[in-house]
Amino acid sequence: MSSARLEITRPDDWHLHLRDGAALGAVVADTARQFARAIVMPNLKPPVTTVAQAEAYRGRILAGLPADTRFQPLMTLYLTEATVPDEIARAKASGFVHAVKYYPAGATTNSQAGVRDLAHVYPVLEAMERHRLPLLMHGEVTDPAVDIFDREQAFIERHLIPLRARFPQLRMVLEHITTRAAAEFIREAPAHVGATITAHHLLLNRNAIFEGGIRPHHYCLPVLKRETHRQALLEAATNGDPHFFLGTDSAPHAQHAKEAACGCAGIYTAHAAIELYAEAFDSLGKLDRLEAFASFHGPDFYGLPRNADKITLERKPWTVPDTLPFGDSVCVPFRAGQDVAWSLA
Ligand code: NCD
Ligand code: ZN
Repeated sequence: MSSARLEITRPDDWHLHLRDGAALGAVVADTARQFARAIVMPNLKPPVTTVAQAEAYRGRILAGLPADTRFQPLMTLYLTEATVPDEIARAKASGFVHAVKYYPAGATTNSQAGVRDLAHVYPVLEAMERHRLPLLMHGEVTDPAVDIFDREQAFIERHLIPLRARFPQLRMVLEHITTRAAAEFIREAPAHVGATITAHHLLLNRNAIFEGGIRPHHYCLPVLKRETHRQALLEAATNGDPHFFLGTDSAPHAQHAKEAACGCAGIYTAHAAIELYAEAFDSLGKLDRLEAFASFHGPDFYGLPRNADKITLERKPWTVPDTLPFGDSVCVPFRAGQDVAWSLA
């Protein structure tokens, strides 16, 4: 048996949904307890499309933090077909906007304002390439003729490969990758093209959506894939390759919004994030690779300093509550009512 304690440099979360208002207040402490920083997604209603809106949202996040934390939100802008190249210069100059998020219109939660045709944002991408501001991509096509399990691979073929050719120096992150094709594409890419991987895509395959009945709390986008893809993601996360880094995509929704005839996509993992990644790495006997994935590759990609302090994980099971507070409702967290094998000391 490998060691029961693991000390690592404090990690960061490079893809996180914090929501807003009372919901924000309910979830932000879970992230701040483990992570020093997080890249905060801009898919609010209305979306965070300007530096001024990002500054105001950052203020609301900081105001919602527990008093004793030094957690830093790293802000992003939501790319629309109305985004102007000057906004990119302002974002770069702000010091608090670290990336721009691309949602294909209609691909996922609050993506209606996203991009319909990438050609319409070429001038903005050109400015991002020049200012070295990363493009974070929800990498799925929205073409209803493409099978939902193939939408990531189709995005790579139809959009990502042409985009790489047109903007060779553009810094890009393919977010929450779910397929072998994505892991292979990123592995072969230059160092300024990376990918985040969630804990839930490392721990579950698509059977989890249908285990004994339909499981809305295992529905997220991109949707869970077959076991061969989960194996490819585990390989990518644990092999020390600096292209791959931690991004939880923790995406809370109220219980009633998930347990519905048309339930929302998104899985809440922030309550146990680093512990869940430890479980995934431990399953391959690769705990020694967790620190680089969780704490080094992300800041190195974004050109930010690695964190100086440490956290300690213990192989000690704990039971996740059935529900957690979520604004004026509750949220059903990942592993609700079940054990997580690792604890944050
Ligand atoms: C996210 C959300 O709820 O905001 N949902 C999800 O399933 N991951 C949006 C997203 O990242 O696709
Ligand atoms: Zn997300």
